[in-house]
Amino acid sequence: MRKGFALLLALLLLAGLTGCAGKQETEKEESSIVVGFSQLGAESSWRIANTESMEQAAKDFGYGLMMENANQKQEKQIDAIRSFIAYQVDVIVFSPIVETGWDNVLSEAKQAGIPVILMDRMIATEDDSLYTAYIGADFYAEGRRAGEYLVRKADTMGAERLRIVEICGTEDSTPMRDRHKGFMDVIGQDERFVIIDSVDGDFLRSKGEECMRELLEKYGSDGFDVVYSHNDGMTLGALDVLESTENAPKNLIVITVDGEKDAVDALKAGRINCVVQCTPDLGPSVMKLVGDLKEGKELPKVYHPEEGSFTDFDDLINPKVEGF
Ligand code: AHR
Repeated sequence: MRKGFALLLALLLLAGLTGCAGKQETEKEESSIVVGFSQLGAESSWRIANTESMEQAAKDFGYGLMMENANQKQEKQIDAIRSFIAYQVDVIVFSPIVETGWDNVLSEAKQAGIPVILMDRMIATEDDSLYTAYIGADFYAEGRRAGEYLVRKADTMGAERLRIVEICGTEDSTPMRDRHKGFMDVIGQDERFVIIDSVDGDFLRSKGEECMRELLEKYGSDGFDVVYSHNDGMTLGALDVLESTENAPKNLIVITVDGEKDAVDALKAGRINCVVQCTPDLGPSVMKLVGDLKEGKELPKVYHPEEGSFTDFDDLINPKVEGF
């Protein structure tokens, strides 16, 4: 009975999103699976592409999708999860904005017998029975890739000392922690490198601009040699400021993460040196896991998609390198 209500609600939500209620309803009426999806926000092009990937995959698999966007507020994500529990969805998928503070609500989902799949970001918990599977990037490996690029670049340049400014993603989030840690584990013991500042850009382009203005004010025209930024949005914001400021540091090495089209174009144009890939296209793999789960199959606890990086050492034309 409640499931029927949930399905109806999912249909209404889908109809609202797509504007073609009739077709959706017919498709979804046949679906017996309803996925409650709490997306954390719309802070970046990555996030928008990820939301689209989830919506498209739900359609392709014929599943009902109840999606709530939390506008980067943890409380809203908790509310959304509680509403999915109340509607008795089949599976909850969510992308936690920060790592801590989920145990209570996930215990409620567990008690209600609703499996939870973490998508994109991880949680910090002592009880890993609170989620069935995690699917998303290996952010630590991404950080390492950024560091490995920098080491190679320094070797090629014969650089003796490089001063790095780091523009970080949302505090207490998995990509922020692990992109920093992976990077440090590669460059930390190498005396050629020093991080002179790490600032919080919250994964927002506008904050990337703000951070760069502050860094320029603090360190001046010759104050740093490398910008390591945890996502493309912040990098592009920082570049806008650098390129419109007289006396900004020249010949900076710019390292970014994600791989959106504008960043890949900036790499090709020589404005960025290294783009570490992070794919937002997780929808099909998530929906496959949902199907496997409902068929009673055992899921891998952790699933990472394959990713790499594009750099100014690569031939960017062959094979064709493109962003999302
Ligand atoms: O969690 C993935 C990160 O979140 C992406 O790198 C960033 O662009 C997004 O906001």
